[in-house]
Amino acid sequence: MREINLDQKEFWNHKKGKLWVSLGPRIDDMFGPLGDEALKVLAPKKGENVIDIGCGTATTSLKLAGLVGGKGSVIGMDISKPILEYAKQNAKENSIKNIEFLLADAQNYCFIGDSYDAIFSRFGVMFFDDPVAAFSNILKGLKSGGRLAFVCWADRSANDWIEVSTNIASNFLELPPKAAPRDPGPFAFEDPLYLNEVLCDAGWNEISIENYSVTNIVGKSIKEAADFLSRMGPMSVPFEDSEEPVKSKVIDSLEKCFVDYVTTRGVEMHFSAWIVTAYKP
Ligand SMILES: C[S@@+](CC[C@H](N)C(=O)[O-])C[C@H]1O[C@@H](n2cnc3c(N)ncnc32)[C@H](O)[C@@H]1O
Repeated sequence: MREINLDQKEFWNHKKGKLWVSLGPRIDDMFGPLGDEALKVLAPKKGENVIDIGCGTATTSLKLAGLVGGKGSVIGMDISKPILEYAKQNAKENSIKNIEFLLADAQNYCFIGDSYDAIFSRFGVMFFDDPVAAFSNILKGLKSGGRLAFVCWADRSANDWIEVSTNIASNFLELPPKAAPRDPGPFAFEDPLYLNEVLCDAGWNEISIENYSVTNIVGKSIKEAADFLSRMGPMSVPFEDSEEPVKSKVIDSLEKCFVDYVTTRGVEMHFSAWIVTAYKP
């Protein structure tokens, strides 16, 4: 059988996986309000069985586990071994029992048919090399009438937390080539018409795609913001791999630029996402 999503497996299992784990709490601060909005829309009920796709370090899986209660259950699914190891530890430290983790690719995992009430994801479904195949596969696991709710990034240019910092870093670092529209990656679904088409073709019903835009803190100080964002997005791995003088240049330039984003709360930047819901017919 042809192995799928190889580039993403490679990416999330090596340097990026370790970086993601090391930045866990700061990523949670940044993604928190966006993920919470998707959770609100999913509205998990006591006793439900839910899957968290691309669960990462399991912050949302743990929240889901609390919401469905002891009679419900959560599966956190991810392709990254180092990230899932952290997720398991996270659940153990929080004494969460109604949760299980699966090292699996949502695009071809053999879901037990018609068994789950809901599927959730916080920024974990934009990395499939065949999104229609992936969303058709995910649909199989749901009970009839079951629901999907996820948050993914909207227009890249409206996400200055990544756009601004990447543009600056590109002056000093060799960044991976900018992904073509629709290519697997954070902005695969920035075009809502394409996203709607993917979900339609995959067999979902009653699709809703709503914009959710917020400003959020990327650091309490300019220094903290530059340190954090230099390790996020496409610059993350090239920055880690670069020599100290290059790192200093990147950080200096980010710090200069972030002066324009300082508010009384810290360094505040713009985030724009789609909150997506759909149902199994
Ligand atoms: C941007 S991170 C989001 C992690 C987490 N949901 C959060 O909000 O912190 C994307 C996650 O999706 C996972 N992922 C990527 N492709 C996947 C796939 N095909 N199946 C399952 N997980 C996948 C990655 O390993 C990574 O942990």
